Amino acid sequence: MNWTILKLIEWTTEHFKKQEIPNPRLESEILLAHVLGKKRIDLYLEFDHSVGPQELAAYKLLIQRRVKHEPVQYLTGRQEFWSLDFKVGPGVLIPRPETECLVEQALKILKNKNSHPERSEGSLHILELGTGSGVLAIVLAKELPQSHIWAGDISERALSYALENAKTHGVSSQIHFQKSDLFSAFDSKQKFHLIISNPPYLTEEEWGKLAPHIREFEPPEAFKGGAQGIDFHLKILDLASKFLMPNGFVVLEIAPLQSAMLKEYLERQKSVSSFEIVQDYEHRERILVVQYG
Ligand SMILES: C[S@@+](CC[C@H](N)C(=O)[O-])C[C@H]1O[C@@H](n2cnc3c(N)ncnc32)[C@H](O)[C@@H]1O
Repeated sequence: MNWTILKLIEWTTEHFKKQEIPNPRLESEILLAHVLGKKRIDLYLEFDHSVGPQELAAYKLLIQRRVKHEPVQYLTGRQEFWSLDFKVGPGVLIPRPETECLVEQALKILKNKNSHPERSEGSLHILELGTGSGVLAIVLAKELPQSHIWAGDISERALSYALENAKTHGVSSQIHFQKSDLFSAFDSKQKFHLIISNPPYLTEEEWGKLAPHIREFEPPEAFKGGAQGIDFHLKILDLASKFLMPNGFVVLEIAPLQSAMLKEYLERQKSVSSFEIVQDYEHRERILVVQYG
C-alpha cells in the first residue's frame, strides 16, 4: 500500500478515536510531523507525498506508545511554554499552561522598580524551588537578562533537562542549578529578592484519580504534596523569611481548593506584611503572592 501523508493521518485519526485518545486528528498530525522532521503546517502542503518504510515504522511505534497513554510531549520530547520550545521526557513534569500565570506575577513584581527601590536589575537575585525542566528559571532569565537565578530540584533527572534547556536558550551563565531538597543546598546568608515555586500540590486522593496518561508516566514526586496537598507550600513559607531580603516576595502556584487553608496560615504569620491570591486565565485561584517585612 502507498501510504501518503493524508492517508496516514486519516487512518491514525480513526484509530486514535476508537482508542479514545483526545484530539485524535491533532495528535496524529503532531506525531507524523515529528517523525518526518517537519512543521505540522507543512504536512498540509505535502498531503500526497509518500512516507518511506523507515518513517512508517517509527510512526507506528509512536502510535503504539500513544495508545498506551504515554503523553504526546514525551513522544516528541518537546513542550511549548511562554512561546519557547523546551525539551521534556520521562522523569520530568510536562510544564502546564496555567504556570505561565506564575511567571507573569513574578515579572510584575520584579519589573516594578518600587518593589525593591534600592536594587538595579543587575543585582536581582531569584531562587526557584522545584525547577523541573527549568521553564520558570529560564523564562525569568530571558525576560530579565541581568538577573541571577538559583534553581534547585530533588530530582537529578529533572535537573539534566533543565541544564540542557538553559543551554539551548542561551541562559546557562545566568542560572545556577543545584540538586537540593527545597532550601537544603542553599545558604541562608545569601538573600533573594524573590522566591518562586510551582511545588507538588496534589493530595493522595487526587493523585489516585489522575488520568492514566499522567499517573502512569509523569514523575509522582512532581505531584504529591502530602495529605492536604500543601506540605511544600508550608515548608517554603515557614523558611522563606530566612532567605529573603527585606521586603522580599514569595510567589507560589496553588490548587484553588488550597487557598482558604493557606490564607488562614498566612494571617497568623507575623513576618508576612501582605499577601494576595491571584486567579488564572480560567478564573481559578491559582497564584499566591506573599510579601515579607
Ligand atoms: C510541579 S513540578 C514543577 C516543575 C517546573 N517548575 C514547572 O513548573 O513545570 C514540581 C517539581 O518539584 C520537584 N520536587 C519534589 N520534591 C522536591 C523537594 N523536596 N525539593 C526540591 N524539589 C522537589 C519535582 O522533582 C518537580 O520537578
